[in-house]
Amino acid sequence: MSADLAITNGTIVDADGIRRADLRIENGVVVEVGEKLDGDTVIDADGLVVSPGFVDLHSHLREPGDEEAETIQTGSRGAALGGFTACVVMPNTNPAIDSLAVVQQVLDAASDALCEIVPAAAMTIARAGEQLAPMAELVRAGVRIFTDDGTGLQNARLMRTALEYAGGLNHLTDGFDVVLAQHGEVESLAAGGVMHEGEWSSVLGMPGQPAEAEELMVMRDIALARLTGGRVHFQHVSTRGSVSMIRAAKEAGLAITAEATTHHFTLDHSACQTYDPAFKVHPPLRTEDDIAAVKVGLLDGTIDAIATDHAPHTRQAKERPFLSAPPGMLGLETAFAVANTELGADIEQLVRLLSVNPAYIAGIDDRHGGRIEAGRPANLTVLDLDEEWTVTGAAMASRSTNTPYEGRTVRGRVRHTFWNGDHVVDMGEATR
Ligand code: DOR
Repeated sequence: MSADLAITNGTIVDADGIRRADLRIENGVVVEVGEKLDGDTVIDADGLVVSPGFVDLHSHLREPGDEEAETIQTGSRGAALGGFTACVVMPNTNPAIDSLAVVQQVLDAASDALCEIVPAAAMTIARAGEQLAPMAELVRAGVRIFTDDGTGLQNARLMRTALEYAGGLNHLTDGFDVVLAQHGEVESLAAGGVMHEGEWSSVLGMPGQPAEAEELMVMRDIALARLTGGRVHFQHVSTRGSVSMIRAAKEAGLAITAEATTHHFTLDHSACQTYDPAFKVHPPLRTEDDIAAVKVGLLDGTIDAIATDHAPHTRQAKERPFLSAPPGMLGLETAFAVANTELGADIEQLVRLLSVNPAYIAGIDDRHGGRIEAGRPANLTVLDLDEEWTVTGAAMASRSTNTPYEGRTVRGRVRHTFWNGDHVVDMGEATR
């Protein structure tokens, strides 16, 4: 019999709730959940939480094309350290993930990854917003999420067509409704803006992006979801108005889901007064009032998932002046701790937001999220909810260091991560 591993004395938190139990892993699969289990290797999880591995709906791992900032291997190492066992990787690569060949290139590059890499494909060729990508072909190759992330799809007619077309593809997916994930930003209103348009952009004399640039796109796509019956996922929701519209659309029964990033519920636009490009991001950091609304949205289920929008940029790029530096922040290694420290959610809610719901949205809930039970792949993370640590960009596994939380003390640490039973993080250290 092959060597097995037991995790004992832990508190299991999964889609079923919370319970005390041991579990045993063999050949990459959970083979037993029960009491007083033993194994060739035993991890004592007394005082710790054992949960399904986290799923990030929004990672930029920069491969192909910008490997100086991140690679799939370095990004997935950061993901594993952050408790993630799957990352949906965004297609704003170079070239964009808009064809079978590039999907295959990403999957090939993922052969030495430390978590599952799930490519999202572009909705339009080269993310140019003009011509739909070969969606059926990409769905046949396993793609379930389409997005032009980094930019929103501006053309309402093309968005309507994409929704109608995607709606006809579920014969290829065992009935799973393909997701169109939208970066909510009306370009004509947002163009030129480098931060939120409001009090601080006036004080600092920097061009702003109004909340309405996001809200108009959210409003439009709710209308198009109603018109077509299509499934829309709103990425990095950042304003009170967006949260309210999504709440109303869900109450009306539309097939809508949404994510929020940790930075949009923990940092506000006043951070830009330092002129530090670490705080430049799209959509921009908003107001205290928006933060309060995003938090309520996460806590009451309006927003389904916490996503990272992990966006590494090289030191040279982020050292440019605020006006010309690229937008984006690291997130994979801090998401759990920041959410645990600041959201005011209990651990069951956090596991729903970081694992159960995003696994379902991405269509990978057969192997991520869900319940910890015999027969499921061992995609797990073991968490210390109380350990405090200080965020340091230079200490991260990422090739880049652009964390907006530099020097901040946070609570909650990932002790172990198992991906298909592979012990990729052991006592807080990556094993490869
Ligand atoms: O700030 C951002 N950076 N927002 C995005 O949507 C894209 C991302 C990136 O790729 O750098």
